Amino acid sequence: MTQTIAVLAGDGIGPEIMAEAVKVLNVLKTSDGLDIALEEGLVGGIAYDVKGHPLPPETLALAKRADAVMLGAVGGAKWEPLDISLRPEKGLLGLRSALNLFANLRPASIYPELADASPLKPEIVSGLDILIVRELTGDIYFGQPRGIRTLENGEKQGFNTMVYSESEIERIAHVGFQSAQKRQKKLCSIDKANVLECTEFWREVVTRVGKQYPDVELTHMYVDNAAMQLVRYPKQFDVIVTTNIFGDILSDLASQLTGSIGMLPSASLDANNKGMYEPIHGSAPDIAGKGIANPLATILSVAMMLRFSLGRADLADKVESAVKKVLAQGFRTRDILGNASTSQYKLVNTQEMGQAVLNALKG
Ligand code: NAD
Ligand code: IPM
Ligand code: MN
Repeated sequence: MTQTIAVLAGDGIGPEIMAEAVKVLNVLKTSDGLDIALEEGLVGGIAYDVKGHPLPPETLALAKRADAVMLGAVGGAKWEPLDISLRPEKGLLGLRSALNLFANLRPASIYPELADASPLKPEIVSGLDILIVRELTGDIYFGQPRGIRTLENGEKQGFNTMVYSESEIERIAHVGFQSAQKRQKKLCSIDKANVLECTEFWREVVTRVGKQYPDVELTHMYVDNAAMQLVRYPKQFDVIVTTNIFGDILSDLASQLTGSIGMLPSASLDANNKGMYEPIHGSAPDIAGKGIANPLATILSVAMMLRFSLGRADLADKVESAVKKVLAQGFRTRDILGNASTSQYKLVNTQEMGQAVLNALKG
């Protein structure tokens, strides 16, 4: 049966990187019998411009109807003056929430070919393979009350609420433990239990869930220490499970261990592995329109979609091998060039990198 993929390119570099991911999907469709139909939709700033809302009802309906969603990136300076409820980011958050995509898997593993692209020493990052399991539909992102208010003394105050219910912590903890069971059987839960009651409770619930997984070694770490440890000795981690806000911050940090934020894919899953797939980076306004963005995080997100939502682990492996091959062939977008000279590598733009992956896919 034909599976429908919603393609939401979004803003900034979103359309540039998504174009390359779509080419990959189309090659798999024609050469590997992948039975899919792609349907485009508007999300983010472009959706606000065209439809007056960052998540128009027709886009939400498409995402709900689709078997999986591919998302590029949203946001940009143009929309910053808007009320927060209409900003591009609300389109993305609305999708995550409406589709109940509570489990965000952000693998950070380094391709050996990119050991010299990381700002950290090769011996610190070589062989690195971490999975960050980020809770995605709770926490301070969605907690009520929130807003900006005027106090009795006339002073204004901004406020948000960090909140987690027991069931929200339990279900993401299960994802963390089960992910660890498939890997090195080590789970580190990251919180700020020394200061925040919300995450003191997080630690208590994760510990209790852990009793069901005696084969997994559970540790706990405060988020400030975790940020430091990720730079000092990142290979101590196997799977990390953490809250929405901490996971957001730590995954950008982890991207630098792998060379570039342009390399990190993600899967956002519901309880039935219906998912949305997107690079962890944003719309990169500083390079948008220049055609130089790295499309590999988005192409690797295609691989995650093939594996988790489309039941085609074989094709996921094929896409990941193609990416590995182009890196071994020396193709580099600017962000993964590191300090190397261009004579050592082939400096390419977005489309050329996409084409190199297509060539590798075709053998
Ligand atoms: P960003 O991730 O867009 O960019 C950070 C830096 O990384 C920039 O220097 C950018 O050029 C670089 N970068 C990002 N992706 C790259 C790629 N594929 N290839 C090469 N370089 C890349 O973060 P930001 O600048 O803080 O945010 C810009 C906008 O994106 C904001 O509006 C923000 O809200 C939004 N945002 C969206 C998402 C998303 O859609 N999932 C994620 C993060 C940020
Ligand atoms: C991400 C982004 C989003 C987040 C923003 C754009 C809402 O930073 O996907 O990491 O904070 O989750
Ligand atoms: Mn982020």
